[in-house]
Amino acid sequence: MANNNDDQFKKVISHAKEYGYIFASSEIYDGLSAVYDYAQNGVELKKNIREYWWRSMVYLNQNIVGIDAAILMHPTTWKASGHVDAFNDPLIDNKDSKKRYRADVLIEDYAEKLEQKAQKEIDKAKARFGDAFDEQQFVTTHPRVVRYREHQREILARLARSLEAEDLADVKSLIEELEISDPDTGSKNWTEVRQFNLMFGTKLGASADSATSLYLRPETAQGIFVNFLNVQKTGRMKIPFGIAQTGKAFRNEIVARQFIFRMREFEQMEMQFFVRPGEELTWYEHWKEARLKWHLSLGMGEENYRFHDHEKLAHYANAAADIEFKFPFGFKELEGIHSRTDFDLKAHEKFSGKKLQFFDPEMNENYVPYVVETSIGLDRMFLAVLSTALQEEELENGSTRTVLKIPSILAPVKAAVLPLVKKDGLPEIAQAIIDDLQWDFNVAYDEKDAVGRRYRRQDAAGTPFCITVDHQTKDDNTVTIRFRDSMEQRRIAISEISETIGESISFKKWLS
Ligand code: GAP
Repeated sequence: MANNNDDQFKKVISHAKEYGYIFASSEIYDGLSAVYDYAQNGVELKKNIREYWWRSMVYLNQNIVGIDAAILMHPTTWKASGHVDAFNDPLIDNKDSKKRYRADVLIEDYAEKLEQKAQKEIDKAKARFGDAFDEQQFVTTHPRVVRYREHQREILARLARSLEAEDLADVKSLIEELEISDPDTGSKNWTEVRQFNLMFGTKLGASADSATSLYLRPETAQGIFVNFLNVQKTGRMKIPFGIAQTGKAFRNEIVARQFIFRMREFEQMEMQFFVRPGEELTWYEHWKEARLKWHLSLGMGEENYRFHDHEKLAHYANAAADIEFKFPFGFKELEGIHSRTDFDLKAHEKFSGKKLQFFDPEMNENYVPYVVETSIGLDRMFLAVLSTALQEEELENGSTRTVLKIPSILAPVKAAVLPLVKKDGLPEIAQAIIDDLQWDFNVAYDEKDAVGRRYRRQDAAGTPFCITVDHQTKDDNTVTIRFRDSMEQRRIAISEISETIGESISFKKWLS
């Protein structure tokens, strides 16, 4: 099973390169660890995901507006936010392999394996008992499943307690007690666990003496907090209201692996929702549900998502959950929903000496609002889409086809226009169709190779529609439209193409 998943993940990575989605950064110099470039198709997919998020957040909520704050911020921001003191990961080195790991991730991976074992027992029983299977009863009574899950809970609870108490010696003890070994070499020869700050430092100013030390922002959220009052006043916003932002964030990740899952330079899509104190947990539940709905709207399989409620809360939160997605390497965090209390605004008040309060006319009172945040990694969402979309299908004639079933609303190229042959005036008609469609859609022209091969090429690139111009087109102005997912082919009038594509990628259809 693990091997199949590894293979699938390798296929996703090589497919991403072969079809112009993602390249290693500065590849001609052998790349830069955990930094990636988005290629011609990747940049479109990324842009489309960003827009899908932005429309649902900003356009579909009359009380949410967007901003675009700078990456560089006043250095006191990070003192106030707690990042200078507390944005650390516990790391551990293996003395034999010289490899460095996140101690908490080693333990979480161990716990996840217990869950996989429990799941295996459940799947086996399901297959054995068929319709008569009572899963609820099975998971509460089957001794092995109960044991695996209890053990998993104990481990995660102890990890949470030790991290909360900054008891790094106990984290090390846990690794030793569970006999966790270096995933690469099997060695159990570990160093102590140490804290490591994840922020990238840089300098502002020309001369070494007068330069100010800055950080590249590790999250976009602080750009929203420091602008809270500016937006509230100029937008005449009333609580509850939200501010949304997308943009780059930087973290000097210790263990930066798994392709674009954990990068050092990545993009976040965050929204801070400002609410009355005491109402934050109701809004927290609201946003948990709303964000899951957004994910499900893309049709990537309900079974691929689950909530994970945090046991260990970040220094600013009074409730937090992740939406986890089933990546090829297992369920992992895709998005976080955090009830951040009034921690950030209060801290910025204290460090800046400026009031960051809202006068609530209904309550006739000034207060520092509470905040519920939704925070999703754009690159992680990209990986979720790409890894789910990549499929190999057995066809009726015994051949296989590689197809990238990206939801059409997100697909980089919406349609490819293909003249059946490179003569008889067909390329000119195809070009005229492109000239018309390109005002509304990103479309491509392809005339090389037999049409069957071109279909396969577009399937693998993720293009939802192929429009083929043939000799009949000259007689009756119709074309063949071929649908990527079903491979169905239909004859339609040239004048209907735009409407057919438009309907398929309507935001209203997908988001409502
Ligand atoms: N403002 C809250 C915040 O930044 P987070 O859980 O640290 O919370 C939010 O990050 C999201 O950003 C994560 O759910 C993940 O999708 C994405 N993310 C975090 N670190 C990342 C990394 N190194 N590479 C790619 N995405 C990352």
